[in-house]
Amino acid sequence: MKILLVEDEPGVVNRLCARLSILQPNIAVVIARSRSSAVEELEQHEFDFIICDLRLPPQDGGLDIFEEHGLAVHAEIRNCTPGTPCLFFTGFGTSGNILERLSSGGTHNIFGSDERYPMTDFLPKDEFLSCVDRVRHFNAELALLERIEIRLSGDGSSLDHYHKRALQVVARSHHGTSVEGSTLGGLSGAQTLKLRVQDDRTRTLANYFVKIDARAKIETERRNYRSYVSPLLKMGTYPALNRELEAGIGKREALCYQLAEDYSQSLFALLAQDEAAAMAIVERLQALFEPWTEFREPRSHSIHDLRAQRISDAILLNYQAALGAIEKFESTEQEITTSYQHGDLHGSNVLCNGAEGAVVIDFANVGSAPACIDPIILELSVLFHSDSPFRTHTWPTNDQAGVWFNIEEYLTGCPVPGFIKKCREWASQAGSPSDLVPVVYVEALRQLKYEDTNHQLALGIAKAAMTEKM
Ligand SMILES: Nc1ncnc2c1ncn2[C@@H]1O[C@H](COP(=O)(O)OP(=O)(O)O)[C@@H](O)[C@H]1O
Ligand SMILES: [Mg+2]
Repeated sequence: MKILLVEDEPGVVNRLCARLSILQPNIAVVIARSRSSAVEELEQHEFDFIICDLRLPPQDGGLDIFEEHGLAVHAEIRNCTPGTPCLFFTGFGTSGNILERLSSGGTHNIFGSDERYPMTDFLPKDEFLSCVDRVRHFNAELALLERIEIRLSGDGSSLDHYHKRALQVVARSHHGTSVEGSTLGGLSGAQTLKLRVQDDRTRTLANYFVKIDARAKIETERRNYRSYVSPLLKMGTYPALNRELEAGIGKREALCYQLAEDYSQSLFALLAQDEAAAMAIVERLQALFEPWTEFREPRSHSIHDLRAQRISDAILLNYQAALGAIEKFESTEQEITTSYQHGDLHGSNVLCNGAEGAVVIDFANVGSAPACIDPIILELSVLFHSDSPFRTHTWPTNDQAGVWFNIEEYLTGCPVPGFIKKCREWASQAGSPSDLVPVVYVEALRQLKYEDTNHQLALGIAKAAMTEKM
């Protein structure tokens, strides 16, 4: 158990450390002796538990010791690691107002048991033994979690302490005694796994797809799921979000989705095997997102702003020579049909079941966007996404990239022309034909952000958009 102790009085630090180390050899205490040291520790590291004096100096060794510095540490904790429980030492004169602010963090089920643990709590400084008791209890709960065995396949070495804790909390909440995890890929940097929770008779208690990532990213995905996915899309077209860990795993949070067990093939994999089946899935996707099309409305966009949201000026500067002047083109204001979109609909974010069924996953980018962005991203993912089976195909040539809008010429030599045409049909039905130009421009340029994409093709397609009559 890793504790951050924010305390300037050496007497208190020594007494508490002595107590804790006798109590449990596996407790590590990091000491911060001021507000600024505490903030630095909080920014750089993750902790299980924080003990913090309210009356602190601003810097180590400082003499102006005030409660406001403790409150500043409280604010930092709420901001950068709100899922880490913190116990504040309060002095005799601490006002009710301050105590109220300190108890504002709510409670979370951080041990996978029935206990709701307070995220901020306080204790009079003279109740030293109560503090030791709290740590003892916390540590005992963690020890129970650690008894849950984790068996990993895939790249298990990529899992750290808090990833494992998340799996154990999920297991314990199902009264499981072990978990089997297999790590999965994904490009976002999140830790993703298939998880099976089992009891001591190896019966399966739960199957999940688990995603663990920095709090802000998980919050975005959860918000998108709750705003656009589950209230609007039809049952069975996306995996349900069943469980969320918002606290107790350092600065991370986790989402547990229903495991799409029967949907074992990505749309990319299906496309490599059976183009006609993949084309049917494109039609299915278009129907699946139908509830979002009700929100179609024209909105005025500047091409520059659309592009800057997806790829920065700084990156584009490196391609100035190849792209030529973009300012005039980008200064155009255009009405574009906007609606809710998945926002990252590449072939690995669609899972297929071999019986014409498909579910969409990965809701990090769902929201308002040009209405043709999903089919355009899907089409371009065949050329650019690292999972695409056709990424290194000789089609399209650089010359063909330049005639992207002339579909017949563009598709000469294409291994999956029907699929590309289906995407293009969907894109042209999604809004007005002129919407394609800015969206293709932006989505092609976005590929320049990634090192391993074919930049010549990306530039060629972007230039085709710039010269296309709108
Ligand atoms: N509900 C699910 N059931 C089964 N596998 C899934 C599920 N969700 C995602 N996956 C698999 O995990 C991979 C990564 O998940 P994803 O949500 O796309 O994360 P990332 O944000 O890292 O792209 C997917 O490409 C897919 O293979
Ligand atoms: Mg994904």
